Amino acid sequence: MNREKETRKFFYFFFFYVFLLSALFQSPEAAKDSSVRHVKLQNQKLDSSVVFPVSGNVYPLGYYFVLLNIGNPPKLFDLDIDTGSDLTWVQCDAPCNGCTKPRASQYKPNHNTLPCSHLLCSGLNLPQSTPCADPEDQCDYEIGYSDHASSFGALVSDEFPIRLANGSTMHPHLTFGCGYDQQNPGPHPPPPTAGILGLGRGKVGISTQLSSLGITKNVIVHCLSHNGKGFLSIGDELVPSSGVTWTSLARNSPSKNYMTGPAELLFDGKTAGVKDINLVFDSGSSYTYFNAEAYQVILNLISKDLNGKPLVDKEDKSLPVCWKDKKPLKSLDDVKKYFKTITLRFGSQKNGQLFQVPPESYLIITEKGNVCLGILNGTEIGLDGYNIIGDIFFQGIMVIYDNEKQRIGWIPSDCDKLPKVKQDYRGELSEEEAYPRGFGLIKELFSATDSSKNLVSDGEL
Ligand SMILES: *[C@@H]1O[C@H](CO)[C@@H](O)[C@H](O)[C@H]1NC(C)=O
Ligand SMILES: *[C@@H]1O[C@H](CO)[C@@H](O)[C@H](O)[C@H]1NC(C)=O
Repeated sequence: MNREKETRKFFYFFFFYVFLLSALFQSPEAAKDSSVRHVKLQNQKLDSSVVFPVSGNVYPLGYYFVLLNIGNPPKLFDLDIDTGSDLTWVQCDAPCNGCTKPRASQYKPNHNTLPCSHLLCSGLNLPQSTPCADPEDQCDYEIGYSDHASSFGALVSDEFPIRLANGSTMHPHLTFGCGYDQQNPGPHPPPPTAGILGLGRGKVGISTQLSSLGITKNVIVHCLSHNGKGFLSIGDELVPSSGVTWTSLARNSPSKNYMTGPAELLFDGKTAGVKDINLVFDSGSSYTYFNAEAYQVILNLISKDLNGKPLVDKEDKSLPVCWKDKKPLKSLDDVKKYFKTITLRFGSQKNGQLFQVPPESYLIITEKGNVCLGILNGTEIGLDGYNIIGDIFFQGIMVIYDNEKQRIGWIPSDCDKLPKVKQDYRGELSEEEAYPRGFGLIKELFSATDSSKNLVSDGEL
């Protein structure tokens, strides 16, 4: 348990309580002032959120990203949103090995590395982290992903200018990685984003950092649409007060992952005979990975179900299992009638929590016009003892990672529509202004971006 956070939370509650009491038991003379006090109380609630518009898709891109400003003057970075890892990092001009962005679009460190004695360095919990020999040394990190890509760099701290949904602009200093050596030995090209937005549960996770600064609650919401859009929010403002299905996070999750379960697999509402599967909710994975057993079962059920229907097996280099129709397919609307809903049932058989996945959330249409299964064999890529729910399953639902209450929730939503944020006192904002690029950054700051060039000498960390 994180003692520090518990204490902090206690203090907020304490002060809130004192404030409430003083507002209630005020003298009669003060009473005429109560409307003012009430407004003040509302404004001091520490529960605002940041909201980012999201772009991306499962196929052909394979990721969803946000645009985020870092630094002063700020620079804009596109970051892959990843609830499967903690550390945020950006391609770093230190200079850089294996960067996909041109130098001008890389992050330029400004003698702002953190020492390896820093709390967040020791808390990194990265298996390959180099030990801290001298406390003054810079904090190096190395992070590896399940697709064998990796990033090596140093921890830095810099400003993240953000606008909260309540209209306030803030400039918290957050810790992230300046990644100056990226390796990508796998068969796929490296992701073209400037880096990763780490939304995992660990101390260095962006949501954990924002919440320990008292800016937002440690809650992450994402809503990814089938049409390449969506939104991401940190804080609990967008969490609907009803209609959300909640399941608890596994108590003894082996890592900092959002693991739930055990769950049972249903096909077309009927038991598929696979129980007790643990699932990790991971927005950094484009597809869903089931262990060999569950994978085989689902494959068999789908194949059997396609008997007598016009779809036949077809090789397509996009994914391992694909089918073709008589004519090349353009849209999932043409074939979803041939497939059944897959359901994950968490908890008990009677009062279980159902996570329903309609065909359009487990299939893709490829460039060749075939339809392919977006569920893959996790055992094949070495996932051991757990399964991953990736972006493909998340489409069309709001997914809520509630670190305050150790639970995950979901609710079907229209993710194409950006949520309405509170307008500030300057009056109505158009959608464009409410969600400026890089989220919430005021325009003046944003136009200063270009002057950020050449402020720092090259190659120095
Ligand atoms: C918005 O929320 C932040 C942090 O949660 C708070 O510091 C700020 O005062 C709030 N602003 C308004 C206008 O309520
Ligand atoms: C899944 O992967 C495992 C390990 O490579 C393999 O033994 C198994 O046959 C695969 N299952 C299917 C259905 O391809």
